[in-house]
Amino acid sequence: MQIVRSCALAIIPLAACMNMDMSLPPAIPVIEPPACDGSLAVPRATDENPDPRVVEVTITASVVETEYLPGQRVQVWAYNGTVPGPTIEANVGDRVIVHFRNQLAEDTTIHWHGVRVPNAMDGTARVMMPVPAGGTFVYDFVVPDAGTFWYHPHVRGDVQMERGLYGTIVARDRSAPPLGEAVAEQLVLDDVRVNVETGALEEFIDDRAMMMGREGNLVLANGRRSNVGVAARAGERRLWRIVNAANARYFKLVMIDGTMVRVGSDGGALGAPESTDEILLTPGERADILVTVPTPSTTAILRAQPYERASMAGATTPVDLVRLVASSQPAITAPPLPATLTSIPTLTAPTLTRTLELGEKMKDDKMTFTINGAAFPTVPVVTARVRDVERWTIVNDTDMDHPFHLHGFRFQAEGVAEWKDTINVPENKTLNLLVELDDRAGSSIGGWMYHCHILEHEEGGMMGELSVAP
Ligand code: C2O
Ligand code: CU
Ligand code: CU
Repeated sequence: MQIVRSCALAIIPLAACMNMDMSLPPAIPVIEPPACDGSLAVPRATDENPDPRVVEVTITASVVETEYLPGQRVQVWAYNGTVPGPTIEANVGDRVIVHFRNQLAEDTTIHWHGVRVPNAMDGTARVMMPVPAGGTFVYDFVVPDAGTFWYHPHVRGDVQMERGLYGTIVARDRSAPPLGEAVAEQLVLDDVRVNVETGALEEFIDDRAMMMGREGNLVLANGRRSNVGVAARAGERRLWRIVNAANARYFKLVMIDGTMVRVGSDGGALGAPESTDEILLTPGERADILVTVPTPSTTAILRAQPYERASMAGATTPVDLVRLVASSQPAITAPPLPATLTSIPTLTAPTLTRTLELGEKMKDDKMTFTINGAAFPTVPVVTARVRDVERWTIVNDTDMDHPFHLHGFRFQAEGVAEWKDTINVPENKTLNLLVELDDRAGSSIGGWMYHCHILEHEEGGMMGELSVAP
């Protein structure tokens, strides 16, 4: 964050110099919802097309009322009336047609986060005119990869997503080895800020939110207050496809009194199942995990542990997300897991290396987030050649973590055979990514955005464009 350096110039008023110990408003404490019974059910988008290889759905963005706290009706922005929006389910290779209708009072688009869509379908201002209030657009693409992806606007993302516009798109691979799960569920994590007395939603943007990104005080799991208990059978394996749809909140996931095995990442299956104690999920990232509660009449808890993503930012208290409540029935034995899930080549031999430096500076008394010293839209366009593999050295020159996201292409952290599209770049650290600029049906030629997925940072300038040429 270069606090010392910028303050040393002595031209920045103290209140604006963002020395967080002194000038940021305090983080507001997270509400701890009582455990209550519930479900993780999310509506599924209705496939209107009889062709088994075509998934054709209608998605409407509009203002609706919902209830985040019991008895408290609040207005949100939603896809097809629910937060999260309906899950779009497809098989790898299916054509997905989305009839999108904008019934909001402002422009919006849909971006298919992580799906390697043709350039014209990416939903950014670079490739399409925003869909105006009352307007429509047809998204039409083939889903090339299996995995857990998601969709959200790419216009005023910080506001539109905070208000509830997000949903999951899941692509299955029928030839993948079975995981022996009894249940597969989506788990979309978010947070909102509510007034603790009235329960009303609060739209807020103060110095802390601009600097660190908005963090709410009510954590949502599938649009419901967290800590719902779902009934389970001891020993049964459940697949949870988790998406972090929050503007800025990191979730450091642990499973208390249960087991957790990671099987998928941003870009689909891992090479092999990975037993793990902890998964850090930054905004934009996904994790597919298998969970079990091993013992009858006990409860396992998926919990978000505190994670300091900058000095004095990030959760300070644990938040219980979901409880898996085992009945008294005897435990069942789930079938053994396959040793291998898929084969992922390790990318090597990049054509070139380029450096992107994440930074920040004061401009007109406003905190601006930068890439190579410039803020979007003045960040120089990166031009690359299709079919190359490039090494992107991401230098985080600030005192806070940034989740780096690239549209349209997948990448690997150098030396790690795992497909990613969003990755945490810890404060003052450097990460080498190998970016695969694949040449795909429907065309990957054109302009693609890359940005920090803390949405206030993205809107505050930490975004650039990659132009892929033939
Ligand atoms: Cu979720 Cu520009 O991305
Ligand atoms: Cu994206
Ligand atoms: Cu950031």
